Amino acid sequence: MTLRRTLTMSCRPKVGVLLCAVVLIFLVQKTIYFTWEGHIRHEEHLRQLEKDKSLAKIKRISSNFASFQRKYTFQSKHFTDQAKDDAVSFTRNLPNISNKTKSDLKERTPEELNSRDSYRYYISDTVRDDLQDVYVNLHKYEYTLNNKYACNGNVLAVILVNSAPDKPSERMQIRNTWGSVRFHSGATVVTLFAIAQTEDDKLQSHIESESKQYVDIIQGNFLDSYRNLTYKTVMGLDWVHKFCNHTKFVLKVDDDTLIDTYHLVDYLLQRSPDGDIEDFLYCSTFRNQGPIRRSDDKWFVPMTEYPYSKYPPYCEGFAYIMSYDVSKKLYEATETVKIYWIDDVYLTGLAAIQARITHTNMESGHSYKLLDTDNLSKIVQSSLFLLAKYDSMRPNWDRAWDDIKSLHKK
Ligand SMILES: *[C@@H]1O[C@H](CO)[C@@H](O)[C@H](O)[C@H]1NC(C)=O
Ligand SMILES: *[C@@H]1O[C@H](CO)[C@@H](O)[C@H](O)[C@H]1NC(C)=O
Ligand SMILES: *[C@@H]1O[C@H](CO)[C@@H](O)[C@H](O)[C@H]1NC(C)=O
Ligand SMILES: *[C@@H]1O[C@H](CO)[C@@H](O)[C@H](O)[C@H]1NC(C)=O
Ligand SMILES: *[C@@H]1O[C@H](CO)[C@@H](O)[C@H](O)[C@H]1NC(C)=O
Repeated sequence: MTLRRTLTMSCRPKVGVLLCAVVLIFLVQKTIYFTWEGHIRHEEHLRQLEKDKSLAKIKRISSNFASFQRKYTFQSKHFTDQAKDDAVSFTRNLPNISNKTKSDLKERTPEELNSRDSYRYYISDTVRDDLQDVYVNLHKYEYTLNNKYACNGNVLAVILVNSAPDKPSERMQIRNTWGSVRFHSGATVVTLFAIAQTEDDKLQSHIESESKQYVDIIQGNFLDSYRNLTYKTVMGLDWVHKFCNHTKFVLKVDDDTLIDTYHLVDYLLQRSPDGDIEDFLYCSTFRNQGPIRRSDDKWFVPMTEYPYSKYPPYCEGFAYIMSYDVSKKLYEATETVKIYWIDDVYLTGLAAIQARITHTNMESGHSYKLLDTDNLSKIVQSSLFLLAKYDSMRPNWDRAWDDIKSLHKK
C-alpha cells in the first residue's frame, strides 16, 4: 500500500513529463517534416513557374520569329538557292577520290585558275596522297588535357573558343564575363577553350592548374601556332563528336569575341523551338573572296599552296553557329578535303562545299560590332557579338558586359 502510493505519487508526474516529451518530440518532428516538405514543394513550384515562364517566353519569341523568318527567308532565298545549285552541280562533277598521283593530274589553264568558281578544282585536283594529315584527315587527335565530362547533361550549345596557351588573362576575362552564363531561359551553355601544345613548361603547368580549377580546357597533341589553326578548329569538332554529340548547337568563336550570352541563348531557342534543327550554318558570310598574294601580309598564300583565285563562300571566323548535324557533316567531310591552313576557309568553305552545306548569312544586327565606340551602351543593345580586335578595345570589355547584364536584368 505504501509502496503503491509512493509509486503513484512519484510516477505520475514522471509519466506526465514523459508523455509530454514524447508528444513534444512528435510535434517537433512533424513540424520539421512539414516545413521541409513545404520547402521542397515550394522549390518544385518555383521550378515549374520558371519552366512555364521560359516556355511562354519561347512561344512568344517563336511567334514573333515566324514572321521574321518568313521575311528573312524571302530575302535570303535568292542567294541560298544559288549556293545550293552551286553545291549540287559541284558535287555531281566531283570525281571519287582517285588513286592517281599528282603527276597524273592535268595542269589547269589560266581561265580555270582565274574563274569565279576556281575553288572547285581544289577538291577535284585532290589525290589520295593529299589526304594523309594525321589530325585533320585521319582524326588522330589525342588530348593531353580533356575535360570530357564538361558537356554532360542537357546542352543547348557548346561554345568552342580558339585560344592560345599564352593567353590566360583573355580566358579569365571570358570566364568572368560572358562565359559565366551557363544557364539562361531554362537552357544550358558550355564554354570550352581549345588550345594546343606549348614548349614553355611553366606556362604548361599554369594551363594545367587552370584546367583543374575551371574544367573548361581541351588541349590537343600538336604545337600551337597560327599556321596550325586548322588543326585546332577541327579538333574542336573532333571533341564535340566524341564527347558532346547530344548538343543542339556548336559555336566556334575567337578569344577576342564578346558574346551577349543571354541574347544568344534566346536566339538559339527561337531557332529550335521544338528542339529540332538541322542544316543550319549561321555566320557572316564572305563571298567571292580569294587568297592574299602580297608577300608581306600575315595571311599571304603563295600560288604553290593555293593556285586558284577564289575561295568558296565561307564564314568570318570571329563566330559561327552550326546546328549539331552541320558540325558532324563538316567533321566527316574533313576526311576527304586536303588541309588548308586558314581554318575558316578550310572548314566553313572547302569542307562545307564537300558536305553540301549552305550558309545562312547573319542578319546585320547579329554580325559583330567593334568595342571601340563611346556609344557602347547603344551597340550593346542590338548586338550578339562584340569584338575587341585591338588591345585598345580590351578595357571596354568589362564595361560592355556590365551593360549587357543590366539590360537583361530589367
Ligand atoms: C563514286 O562512288 C560511288 C559509290 O561507290 C558511285 O555510286 C559513283 O557512281 C562513283 N562516281 C564516279 C564519278 O565514279
Ligand atoms: C585504290 O587503291 C587501294 C589500295 O591500293 C585499293 O584498295 C582501291 O580499290 C583503289 N581504288 C580505286 C578506285 O582504284
Ligand atoms: C604544327 O604542329 C605540328 C605537330 O605538333 C608541328 O610539328 C609543327 O611544327 C606545327 N606547325 C607549325 C607551323 O608550328
Ligand atoms: C553519341 O555518342 C555515343 C558514345 O560515343 C554513342 O553511343 C551514340 O550513339 C552517339 N549518338 C549520336 C546521336 O550520334
Ligand atoms: C556613335 O555616336 C556618334 C555621335 O553621336 C555617331 O556619329 C556614331 O555614328 C555612333 N556610332 C555608333 C556605332 O552608333
